[in-house]
Amino acid sequence: MDDALLARWQAVARLPGDLEKVTRRDERLPFLYEALRRLLGMSRARLFPIKRPMAELSAPGRNKLPVLEYICLQRQPVMVSNAEDEGLALPRELSDWKFPTLLFIPLISREVALGVLALASEEVKELGGADAELIEAVVPIVARTLEIETMVGENERQARYNKLLEGVEALMRDRGWAEILGSVVHEVHQSLQVERTLIFARRGQESLEVRAGIGCPYASAGNLGDDACGLLAKKVFSHRKTEVQNFNGILDLGLTRPFCIERQVVAVPIASPERVHGVIECFNRLDGKDFEGHQIELLERVAGRMALAIENAELLDQIRQSGINAVIGLATALDAKDAYTASHSHNVGEYSFRIAAALGLPYDQCERIKLAGILHDLGKIGIPDDVLNKPDKLTDAEFELIKSHPVKTGKIMAHFHDLQDVRLSAATHHERWDGFGYPDRLKGESIPIGGRIICLADAFDTLTSDRKYRARVTMEFALQEMSRNRGRQFDPACVDALFRALVDLGSVDLNGNALPSHEELERLRTEPPPPLKPPPKPKPAEAEATRPA
Ligand SMILES: [Fe+2]
Ligand SMILES: [Fe+2]
Repeated sequence: MDDALLARWQAVARLPGDLEKVTRRDERLPFLYEALRRLLGMSRARLFPIKRPMAELSAPGRNKLPVLEYICLQRQPVMVSNAEDEGLALPRELSDWKFPTLLFIPLISREVALGVLALASEEVKELGGADAELIEAVVPIVARTLEIETMVGENERQARYNKLLEGVEALMRDRGWAEILGSVVHEVHQSLQVERTLIFARRGQESLEVRAGIGCPYASAGNLGDDACGLLAKKVFSHRKTEVQNFNGILDLGLTRPFCIERQVVAVPIASPERVHGVIECFNRLDGKDFEGHQIELLERVAGRMALAIENAELLDQIRQSGINAVIGLATALDAKDAYTASHSHNVGEYSFRIAAALGLPYDQCERIKLAGILHDLGKIGIPDDVLNKPDKLTDAEFELIKSHPVKTGKIMAHFHDLQDVRLSAATHHERWDGFGYPDRLKGESIPIGGRIICLADAFDTLTSDRKYRARVTMEFALQEMSRNRGRQFDPACVDALFRALVDLGSVDLNGNALPSHEELERLRTEPPPPLKPPPKPKPAEAEATRPA
């Protein structure tokens, strides 16, 4: 053995030890190709991953095999001097490899074709028996390293994908479809590493609109252009089938998408077997490669889960709504028990919404507080009419019976798991800001904001409407009562919000009473109200103050 050959074999012997010193995992394979390239005196090395079972490569009926599959089927290194002459279709990535000698080494492990290592020489080269022996010694190390790399890479990818899918599910569980689109589009965009991601959603029966997007200057436009990508989305939407479209770098000059150059777009329907809700489109991988099967599969899984979650959410909403409708029906039944209080529940709901909105609470919360307002006296359903509507002074026992209604309201609503915030608001509407209310003598901000709002709305509607046991008071008196109890029975911020809400209401309140002018309302809100004269007999308003509303 000459010295040069000896040195090459010594290098092969050192290879496993040298490999262990390469600490970064992603540098191990390049280190091995480089070692093999040097050992064989070649000038270029490149790996082409395949990862397909050998049995699939030998599928019958394929007469002109792509070169990589052909090499694997040979199960040994193949020297190629002129690929075209040999009837081989070289991979697109090798079109710039114009070298006189190409050497392809198949990397096969456990009957899986992992890939092909391509080596090129700028000179015409003949590889001898010694080279073949060197290759035979090194290739198992490369194949094993590639196998580990593929496995680890796949595990990592799977873990990343699982995280994405779990994230999508969690997002969909907690929030509605419209709210989660932004997060889903972001997650998909990050996971697939693409230039642009768009989600189109159904608008009406047949049309689509852009609902969320990253990397698209036109993503927020809401319109679906008649450019190639818009047409692709429409096609996928109507056929409910994934499409991969190549644009070959053509500059699209559609008016809605002025500066986008597309190479490849994947469009996946967001659909269940029954219905189609929209389309996800991903444009151009950042690394310039084509989309791989696992990426398309991931998109399909994300879209499938979105469709399922959308339908679940719709179903839950329907169930929730029918539950809510049933309780609202109860509140209406309660109002119907007495012609005098015919619209009390609904008025309290409406005033509560307006006060909550004037306080600047989010729309959703205002809606929930409105519902609590409608339901606040639900517990009165079990109290006999003759006690509720007794025109004379209540006995202590009757008074206590009526006072039990907020607790009863809470008990009825405890059965509705989705309405627990509503239940809390309704069950605390007789607590007072100063801590002298009932049933729990809560004080200040320890009373839920909904409870504080409804307390005020309830008192205002009660004073401004007729009851069996007394006539309505004047608007001026009612408003003075609100101011007088500012910081006592009522949260001061809520009182201010009520005055603002009345300005917005216009000329009459919900019971048809004329409302004062804006200036007069402001005077009543800011001027200290006159003290109540100590009357020998209780006045209507005082009688009211001692009677639960
Ligand atoms: Fe009440
Ligand atoms: Fe009430």
